[in-house]
Amino acid sequence: MVDVDLGVCLGGLRLHNPIMTAAGTAGYGVEFANALDLSRLGAHVVKSLAIFAHPGNPAPRLAPLPVGMLNSVGLPGPGIERWLNEYYPQLISSGATFAVSIWGRTIEDYAEATRTLTQGAPQAAFIELNVSCPNTEAGDRLFAHDPIAVSEIVSRCRQETDRALYVKLSPNTDRVSAVAKAAIEAGADGLVAINTVFGQWLYEGKSVLGTARGGGLSGSQIHAIALRIVSDLRSQFPSIPIIGVGGISTVDGIVRMLTAGANAVQIGTASFVDPRRSQLLVQELALRVSTQGFNSLSSFLAGFGAVVRSGEDSELA
Ligand SMILES: Cc1cc2nc3c(=O)[nH]c(=O)nc-3n(C[C@H](O)[C@H](O)[C@H](O)COP(=O)(O)O)c2cc1C
Repeated sequence: MVDVDLGVCLGGLRLHNPIMTAAGTAGYGVEFANALDLSRLGAHVVKSLAIFAHPGNPAPRLAPLPVGMLNSVGLPGPGIERWLNEYYPQLISSGATFAVSIWGRTIEDYAEATRTLTQGAPQAAFIELNVSCPNTEAGDRLFAHDPIAVSEIVSRCRQETDRALYVKLSPNTDRVSAVAKAAIEAGADGLVAINTVFGQWLYEGKSVLGTARGGGLSGSQIHAIALRIVSDLRSQFPSIPIIGVGGISTVDGIVRMLTAGANAVQIGTASFVDPRRSQLLVQELALRVSTQGFNSLSSFLAGFGAVVRSGEDSELA
């Protein structure tokens, strides 16, 4: 391993590199332990959990496209209590830094999930609020497209925890900035951008997925969308921690996202092609920094004229 300091800061949280798994793409615990050493990553993000167990959507749930992937997994999961008993101990033993993504159907679902995790999982580094879910109390409108609903979720969760709260933004609205502003004003510590983009793919006139309406598009086609949203968010919110996600599978993609303004990145669909991808990217990023003549990611990024968000004392940390 090349001796390079890849450390970054997410608010008060120091990660030993900027590379995380994206929620829903690397399991609940150490399912990929044969291929992936989670302790080598900046952080592992546990697939979105609800306070209740949920079966998810009918199969087929994944459709590889000529480029990228469409999914309608539908947030299956064991529920937080079972996760605490069965998966949380595995993650503690793995030595990984990890965060937990949560979802719900009502604002109180989010609050209860936050309370239960705060009490039961003291080692979870932060809680990621996946708000791309239908609000059953508001005609199934997605929380993520409604600044008021997101503000209410964050405020309620803020009452339940002093853990860092990150809000994961949907790209499927023209109100991304308004939703982000509402989240920050309600007490969110940071933003994650972006979740999947609405998409559809047909075979002989029918959806290739079990859900007739289509699903969420991910992978390289959404990379430019994610970069645009992260750049816009960084211009609007100069000091808020931002995690960039969408179509990253290479070191160039990581560098693009960090220079667009992200403090750290998440790898999703690329892990379906190769479950080791995120771990390999840690090595490849260290090699890139070193072969360019730098001994730290922060000095390497400064060479691009990028604002440095990797130092402990960064004004933006
Ligand atoms: C199969 C699959 C399952 C996903 N599950 C979740 C999830 O549970 N929670 C969530 O917030 N995002 C989920 N996502 C979205 C990813 O975390 C990520 O935001 C998105 O795929 C874009 O990144 P990528 O292009 O690197 O995959 C899922 C994505 C995929 C492909």
